[in-house]
Amino acid sequence: MDQQVSRRTVLAGAGALALATRSNAAVSAEDAAYFAAEEPFFLEFAKEFTLDPKVTYFMAAQKGSMPKPVLARMKEGLDHVARDPFPVYVEPSAKIRERIAAAYGTTPDQIAITRNTTDALTLAMMGIEWKPGDEILITPLEHPTGITIALRIAARYGVVVRQWGVPSLPRSSADEVVAAIERRVVPGKTKVVFFSSPLWPTGMRMPERRIAEIAQKAGAITVVDGAHYNGMFDPRLDESGIDFFALCGHKWQNGPGGTGLLYVRNRELPSNPTPLPRFHLVRTQSREVPFDGSRGYDVGAALSLYGFPESADWRALGDAVSLWDKIGRKRIETWHLRLGAYFRDRIVETFGEAAVLRPQHDPALQSGIIGFNPFPKPEQRRDEKLNVDFRSRILREYGFRISGLGVGSNGLTRKPDPEAAAFPSGTIPNRDPATLAPAPMDHPQRVNACVWNSRADVDRFIDATKDLVAKMT
Ligand SMILES: Cc1ncc(COP(=O)(O)O)c(C=O)c1O
Repeated sequence: MDQQVSRRTVLAGAGALALATRSNAAVSAEDAAYFAAEEPFFLEFAKEFTLDPKVTYFMAAQKGSMPKPVLARMKEGLDHVARDPFPVYVEPSAKIRERIAAAYGTTPDQIAITRNTTDALTLAMMGIEWKPGDEILITPLEHPTGITIALRIAARYGVVVRQWGVPSLPRSSADEVVAAIERRVVPGKTKVVFFSSPLWPTGMRMPERRIAEIAQKAGAITVVDGAHYNGMFDPRLDESGIDFFALCGHKWQNGPGGTGLLYVRNRELPSNPTPLPRFHLVRTQSREVPFDGSRGYDVGAALSLYGFPESADWRALGDAVSLWDKIGRKRIETWHLRLGAYFRDRIVETFGEAAVLRPQHDPALQSGIIGFNPFPKPEQRRDEKLNVDFRSRILREYGFRISGLGVGSNGLTRKPDPEAAAFPSGTIPNRDPATLAPAPMDHPQRVNACVWNSRADVDRFIDATKDLVAKMT
């Protein structure tokens, strides 16, 4: 991260204050200068999206929106295929993979095009050579996609699912996160360390590289659910040290629905010099690759060869990636982080520190997703109906599209486990990092700082939320 993310509360001079969208709040001079330089560009870029102008859309984490040039190429590709359906690809898949690999800091043999993150994660996890008694070490803050894959592998192969507690307090640090996971990894037993980055329910980024190092020392494979990683951040996949990274085409990357990517480390790298784990291809048409899980071939090509895809999608995904390159991935990453920090800080100053459900200070743990709860009383913050109503009313009455919900007792801990009762429906089923005792967090509301949003959008949302909370309590 090359720029300071956290807003400092240094009072700016009158000139700088005038640049801010709020009139009487503390804004750092550095912040004011950043937004003065960059906000005009992103306000202009926002015009490239055909999002409904009646709704302020804070949800790239659910689904992004194709920018106009990408949408045009997608439509043109669909027309082309309808006219001449016989050729399999409108652009050779090797060329698309080349474009994407170069943009994401890796090589084409390590990049496969998939149908979405769920698909990519399933290919990775189901391809690992599991044995009864192997252990998956996983966070309790996973998305239903990751939860169900882990539980299916446990049921099918006799694999043990172990959880760890993710330090998620306002002042929690990457060092604490690393210590919490280090405590739970068992060399020789932990087969896979699995986590999302950023985490879906709270928006906390994980220190991927440092976790990869711990796993490598323990001889464990790393699998990351990166649904919110590419497109939001500047992905440096070969530098991550991760073995398998599942990525999304249609969220922060703003490509077409039904597109995703799987990074499979395919050689010993400086960031990960461990031997390649055996890996079975559960979906491929390639007859040339080994059938016994051994390695040493172009795994990206083999995983991308399956039937006749709708290749207008694939080309449009390549175009979305190339557009991000043209704008500058660091520039986009910085925007997500800076506007995300602005959003987070506005929530904190309006509803208090406890309203933001994730670490707030360590720059390594920040992202453009903010999990929060604006209600003042603990019982309100865990009341599923109240919080679901809040989301539908903030859309219906104020025009803001946000999301929310945690998996509660329907996650990794579930009936007949008696501990499931400790996780109220809709809350985040975290555990204490030291004792592993249930430590449920509140029902999360989720907002995103997207490329089409601005500080004015955030300010209007804060005012609307204050108004609605007052009406509902
Ligand atoms: C962490 C995480 N993983 C996976 C998914 C599913 O994404 P996809 O539609 O790309 O399969 C989501 C969707 O929100 C998510 O938040």
